Amino acid sequence: MARNIRAEDFDRQHAGLTILRLFQALSYLVMFVAGIILGLLSSSHINQYFMSQAELFLSTNHILSTPSGGPSNCTIVEMEKSDDCISMEQFLFPKKLSHSMSDDELLWRASMVPRKQEWPYKRVPKVAFMFLTRGPLPMLPLWERFFHGQKKNLYTIYVHALPGYDLNVSRDSVFFGRQIPSQDVKWGTVTLTDAERRLLSNALLDFSNERFVLLSESCIPVYNFPTVYEYLTSSDHSFVDMYDDPSRDGRGRYSTHMLPYITLRQWRKGSQWFEMDRDLATDIVADTKYYALFRKYCKPACYPDEHFIPTYLNIFHGSKSANRSVTYVDWSHGGPHPARFEAENITESFIRSIRNNGTLCSYNSDVSSLCYLFARKFAPSTLEPLLNLTSSVMEF
Ligand SMILES: *[C@@H]1O[C@H](CO)[C@@H](O)[C@H](O)[C@H]1NC(C)=O
Ligand SMILES: *[C@@H]1O[C@H](CO)[C@@H](O)[C@H](O)[C@H]1NC(C)=O
Ligand SMILES: *[C@@H]1O[C@H](CO)[C@@H](O)[C@H](O)[C@H]1NC(C)=O
Ligand SMILES: *[C@@H]1O[C@H](CO)[C@@H](O)[C@H](O)[C@H]1NC(C)=O
Ligand SMILES: *[C@@H]1O[C@H](CO)[C@@H](O)[C@H](O)[C@H]1NC(C)=O
Ligand SMILES: *[C@@H]1O[C@H](CO)[C@@H](O)[C@H](O)[C@H]1NC(C)=O
Repeated sequence: MARNIRAEDFDRQHAGLTILRLFQALSYLVMFVAGIILGLLSSSHINQYFMSQAELFLSTNHILSTPSGGPSNCTIVEMEKSDDCISMEQFLFPKKLSHSMSDDELLWRASMVPRKQEWPYKRVPKVAFMFLTRGPLPMLPLWERFFHGQKKNLYTIYVHALPGYDLNVSRDSVFFGRQIPSQDVKWGTVTLTDAERRLLSNALLDFSNERFVLLSESCIPVYNFPTVYEYLTSSDHSFVDMYDDPSRDGRGRYSTHMLPYITLRQWRKGSQWFEMDRDLATDIVADTKYYALFRKYCKPACYPDEHFIPTYLNIFHGSKSANRSVTYVDWSHGGPHPARFEAENITESFIRSIRNNGTLCSYNSDVSSLCYLFARKFAPSTLEPLLNLTSSVMEF
């Protein structure tokens, strides 16, 4: 009996709601017509106040008043001349990288994962090339050549330069409009890892981005785009340099304040120049707890950029880690910094040895003679000799 009464109540409420909806719909219709009239009037110079009221009113109501299945999906929005229309197009392929979100807001948005397993569009995985730079990109012409002629739906480019720096490239460059809102970076501090997470977040907003590679202004590609794309998108693992260094520069940087969340056994070190898949990238930006520990307890001589991602990956995704980087670097000369190559060091045999020096690397459940896709650190003077080698050695 009680159930019936509730059902009746529900019916009554429901009827009330229906009337309310009808009334709302009617008022929207009235407002919609008024909007059209205002829009028409505006062409004959209606006063400014009137216009802004009309805009305000239209923008708050356009979603409700757009007839579904109408001639255009965004009729009213077109009248407003704004992009403020909810469409899959705008959601999946945003035209601009600029946004007004704070880091907290950005990380939150980027951490979202669709619960549905199927995609409502044909999703082709993209590789996000994320450049973390101070300012100019001296290797830009080399990268331009690398991307030249490649399908635009296979890659995206993001550039995080220091605030105030404007990447000035021509409109037809693949780097045009690819600079993201940035913040100051002090190398060696947590602001560097903040920038990495900012890059990842911006790239995660594009749901087609599946692989994420971090690059610097001194990085070069040593294979052509199709090889890089195939290698990364077919990999079961993320390529993050990660090892246990028993010395002062490894375990010595661990802080017991990180207990019980991070133990010394879990602590890892590795170069910051990572390559990872979407799963890991999402986790890295979604994490608050572990990052807070690094922010608080990993200060010089502990460098978060060398420990946060390797340690996090080791704790949560150990089996998904390739435990190696796809970015070649030469530490053989010793010292705190890797070798920096100048023009005189660039020879055909040198580049060939980076591409394949006879060593095999594990790749998925197999091995591959292809270990490195990128290399660092290359001085601006190397640009010209490298451009001379692209077609004969790098095959692009
Ligand atoms: C409206 O959306 C549908 C489905 O996304 C699309 O096929 C159609 O071209 C769109 N119409 C306009 C005018 O944009
Ligand atoms: C950008 O580059 C163009 C062409 O190289 C040059 O004419 C222009 O002055 C540059 N603008 C800035 C702000 O540097
Ligand atoms: C990388 O190391 C982890 C242990 O830290 C291991 O689980 C994983 O299988 C290793 N990856 C490869 C590709 O060997
Ligand atoms: C680059 O070439 C110079 C001159 O041959 C040599 O002294 C230097 O060691 C080379 N640098 C590297 C990193 O190999
Ligand atoms: C090839 O590269 C690997 C990884 O950098 C290195 O360990 C190995 O010594 C190199 N082999 C030769 C023959 O140079
Ligand atoms: C690059 O190639 C051009 C033409 O083949 C040649 O004139 C030039 O000297 C080369 N530059 C370098 C740095 O090797």
